[in-house]
Amino acid sequence: MFWYSVAIIWASWYADCVSCLLHANNVCRQLRDYSTIETNTNCSYNPDVGSTPRLIAKRYGYPFENHEVTTHDGYILNLHRVPGPRNTISKNGKKRTPIFIVHGLAANSAFSFMQGKKSIAFYLADSGFDVWSGNLRGNTYANKHINGTVSNAEYWDFGIEDIALNDLPASIDYIACQIGEKGNLIYIGHSMGTTVSYIYSTLMRKHAGENLKAIISMAPVAYMTNTQGLFKTLAPSTELLTGILKSNGIYYIGQFPFTFPVISDLCGKYPFINLCNLVTILAGGYSESQFQAEILPVFWSFYPSPISLGILQHFSQFSGGRFARRDYGPSGNMDRYGSDIPPEYDVSQIPVPVHLFVGQYDAIATLKDAEHLESKINSGSAVAKAKLYMFPYDHNNFYTAKISKPLFKTIVQIART
Ligand SMILES: *[C@@H]1O[C@H](CO)[C@@H](O)[C@H](O)[C@H]1NC(C)=O
Ligand SMILES: *[C@@H]1O[C@H](CO)[C@@H](O)[C@H](O)[C@H]1NC(C)=O
Repeated sequence: MFWYSVAIIWASWYADCVSCLLHANNVCRQLRDYSTIETNTNCSYNPDVGSTPRLIAKRYGYPFENHEVTTHDGYILNLHRVPGPRNTISKNGKKRTPIFIVHGLAANSAFSFMQGKKSIAFYLADSGFDVWSGNLRGNTYANKHINGTVSNAEYWDFGIEDIALNDLPASIDYIACQIGEKGNLIYIGHSMGTTVSYIYSTLMRKHAGENLKAIISMAPVAYMTNTQGLFKTLAPSTELLTGILKSNGIYYIGQFPFTFPVISDLCGKYPFINLCNLVTILAGGYSESQFQAEILPVFWSFYPSPISLGILQHFSQFSGGRFARRDYGPSGNMDRYGSDIPPEYDVSQIPVPVHLFVGQYDAIATLKDAEHLESKINSGSAVAKAKLYMFPYDHNNFYTAKISKPLFKTIVQIART
């Protein structure tokens, strides 16, 4: 009798849970629909909310592989690979051009899978490419170190340059080794994923020249003179704020247990969905024609991933208008660089073509700054290496836009030439 009751209770709980997992609405067509999400016919259930690249790939019929890469300094990163088109198996003999997608600040590889079957990873895989979505140290899929713990200060003692000089070459070498060729890799970065590509390909020019065929930059971030919005407001206080955090034993943003899961959970739901949406607009701009209320819960279930304070400090330094190495103060700079001020990254040294994709409504990566970057890259050589392309996007629309075919087609066109 007892076990019978237990079984009944368990079965009903299980049925509840399964039905809630299967059916409860979690996305709506318009922002205002979220307040009545349970009953509103404009709302539905999207299984990709809170899902993983592996499960999303499986759900839409794509081959998927997880690859673990260890950097020279011991950070363990996962590469998420979609090696071929829908309904094919991973290991077929056909050689495909590899594409390496690198995410932005506080993001991760799941961004390449954010739009369900209309995701960038799947479009490129269906177009005949071998797609590798990268993860940079510290994020959800790159949170291990050979030393073990990631809760110590040492793990989080890294900045943008550590990523550029370790995570990128480790991932790029790994891909070359897996596919048995190098020199043909198309690098697609978004936001910080563009910043690290410029640092890598100037400071490790030879490695970049041997491995990459082209760099595609979605929302390029290098010079930040014209950056608007929240970032501009906060940048001057970054040193002060990170100093306060460090002196209180906090080494990264997102450190308190559960902070980020709570943000993610709240931001995808009414009423916070409105507030969180406003914050992203204040930070990254707004493109009305590309806005999709139904992608917000997916976005917030993948974002934000933890970030180190060193990254924030270096970005705030860029807002001063120089794209230069970390500033350690006059004597620190003298020790490290042999000059009072940190040297600029000489982007004219980038050895491959750079395609700059600019969102016309982007508050962070603005057209003016992209034009400046373009002219800097093109100075120094007779042949123009950088080229600008405009899209009607805000900062995140490169992943979240309602209409992304023109973006994807441009990428395919570049990758095929
Ligand atoms: C669903 O959205 C349409 C506009 O697309 C709106 O007119 C309608 O009132 C919405 N339905 C509900 C139940 O809110
Ligand atoms: C890993 O351990 C080595 C040796 O103890 C230490 O020097 C290094 O700083 C550690 N790195 C991290 C990221 O914890």
